[in-house]
Amino acid sequence: MSVTGVEGEERSDYTKAESRQIRQRSLRLLGSLVRPLKARVILTMVVVIISTAAQVAGPALIAFGIDRGLPALVGGDWMPLALVVVAYLVTGVVGATLIAWYTVLTARVSQAILFDLRKRVFLHTQKLSLEFHESYTSGRIIARQTSDLDAIRELLDSGINQLVQGALYMLFIAIAMFSLDWVSGLVLFGALIPLGFLTRWFQKRSQTYFRETRTASAKLIVQFVETMTGIRAVKAFRKEKRNETEFGGLVERYRVTNARVIQLFGIFDPGLVLIGNVALAVILLVGGLRVAGGGLAIGVLLAALLYARQFFAPAQEMAMFYNSYQSAAAALEKISGVLEERPSVPDPTRPIDLRKAQGRVSFSDVEFAYKAGRVILPQFDLELPAGQTVALVGSTGAGKSTLAKLISRFYDPSHGTISLDGVDLRKLHPKDLRRAIVMVTQEAYLFSGTVAGNIALGKPDATRDEIVRAAKAVGAHEFIESLPGGYDTDVNKRGGRVSAGQRQLLSFARAFIADPVVLILDEATASLDIPSERLVQEGLQTLLADRTAIIIAHRLSTVAIADRVLVMEHGIIVEDGTPRDLIAGTGRFAQLHAAWRDSLV
Ligand SMILES: Nc1ncnc2c1ncn2[C@@H]1O[C@H](COP(=O)(O)OP(=O)(O)O)[C@@H](O)[C@H]1O
Ligand SMILES: [Mg+2]
Repeated sequence: MSVTGVEGEERSDYTKAESRQIRQRSLRLLGSLVRPLKARVILTMVVVIISTAAQVAGPALIAFGIDRGLPALVGGDWMPLALVVVAYLVTGVVGATLIAWYTVLTARVSQAILFDLRKRVFLHTQKLSLEFHESYTSGRIIARQTSDLDAIRELLDSGINQLVQGALYMLFIAIAMFSLDWVSGLVLFGALIPLGFLTRWFQKRSQTYFRETRTASAKLIVQFVETMTGIRAVKAFRKEKRNETEFGGLVERYRVTNARVIQLFGIFDPGLVLIGNVALAVILLVGGLRVAGGGLAIGVLLAALLYARQFFAPAQEMAMFYNSYQSAAAALEKISGVLEERPSVPDPTRPIDLRKAQGRVSFSDVEFAYKAGRVILPQFDLELPAGQTVALVGSTGAGKSTLAKLISRFYDPSHGTISLDGVDLRKLHPKDLRRAIVMVTQEAYLFSGTVAGNIALGKPDATRDEIVRAAKAVGAHEFIESLPGGYDTDVNKRGGRVSAGQRQLLSFARAFIADPVVLILDEATASLDIPSERLVQEGLQTLLADRTAIIIAHRLSTVAIADRVLVMEHGIIVEDGTPRDLIAGTGRFAQLHAAWRDSLV
């Protein structure tokens, strides 16, 4: 797999070329997100520039008012002062209005970007093949949708705003200072030197400390999620005490890292205040002497002092920008990695139309490996005629589920072809493929919603009659009727909770209503008790009639209804025949069957 791949994601030892590739990937994503919003971004920039200029105009107007307006007023001319007051009010109102507009504009831009990104991440991860999901843990997928998007949101909502606003503010103040009084401007410039050192120091430390808090909190979450997902095992093996110590350690670590961050601010914040106050004092001293000597107007000195006070205000937020930038960049790298994953089972570019599927499945010259070098099916040829019921048996790890996943095209063979009615599965339209081939596994997942809705998953436009008929066919009708709301019971509500066996029956009904030409049951009856299984057995006859069926089962009673039995070992079919012939012989199946019969008496 490439560096954009799943495994590469959590590495940190990238070569230069790989890092560059990852950066380019992030930038490509960022570009594609911002491009549609270009007009809005430019408008936002214009608004922020004007609003900052309006805010910075205040002290200069005050200087003008004091130095020109007041003497004129004393001389009987109130006009200049009135003009200054009006101008001050106008800039104040314009500034405030533009800030309001700017706030809305930036929020719109950032929300549009996040909306786009959130949707892309969801749709793309959903589209990716099973191979991706089997190696990319759900915890990591959740992190992409939650904490990573949060990091980007924080950067967009506050980080960039503060940086742009802060930088513009400082720039405009510097310009105003220099044009009013360059001596005070120079003093302010001098203050930039200690400010630069302090900020650099803060950034270096905070970068390390913030990363540590992020790692500590991630560990905390992982431990929590793992404990709660495995809560049954935790309780069964009395792991609570050990978890308590482990979790306690993690919480303590999180506390310590946070405390260090706070300590850092405990130095940085007063440092900023100190630099600001010293600069102010020096400006006052130098300016005061010049005012006394008649070299400086008092209004200008006041403006210089006001500017100096405001100058340091955005410094703290700007220093923080670097941190939010770094976590957002890391998040963007990870998200872009997922978004550039390509499905390993791609949709055909020119799908072949399968008008009326018959259900003939053939493997010709197939070889399959999940990972290069570890072949699971070495050399596989198999013909399943349409309508045949095939039982597939063999020990755990023989490759039965792998075979089922290949027929369902969750994976493509590494070599050779698998076809339905002579058409390569890779060339079938995904819609045709899903309609024609359905696999039921032990998992029997129920989505939130009603029982009827869960059955109708197999046929979204099914009528209530069809749903009931499907439930009756697989023997699920009685238990559904006994639920508090019948078919309308919510499966996630109290009373709607169904047992593993009942879930299994619902997934059979789901398969029945889908009415595929090829049906695969992968240990689908494993969580049924004997009476329920017997019930299903009758339903199964209906379910399997008129279609190609592949049943993978441990219980040999299920196998009895098959036309043909395949025994699989190490990815190879070792026996193939009717149940009767195989039982009469001396092979693996005959031994299995004898052992099973003995266990019954
Ligand atoms: N997603 C996977 N990635 C890598 N190897 C796998 C994967 N799934 C199954 N295998 C391997 O393939 C072999 C066959 O597994 P499987 O088809 O599940 O066996 P069965 O269903 O007969 O018990 C096993 O050796 C298993 O370790
Ligand atoms: Mg299996």
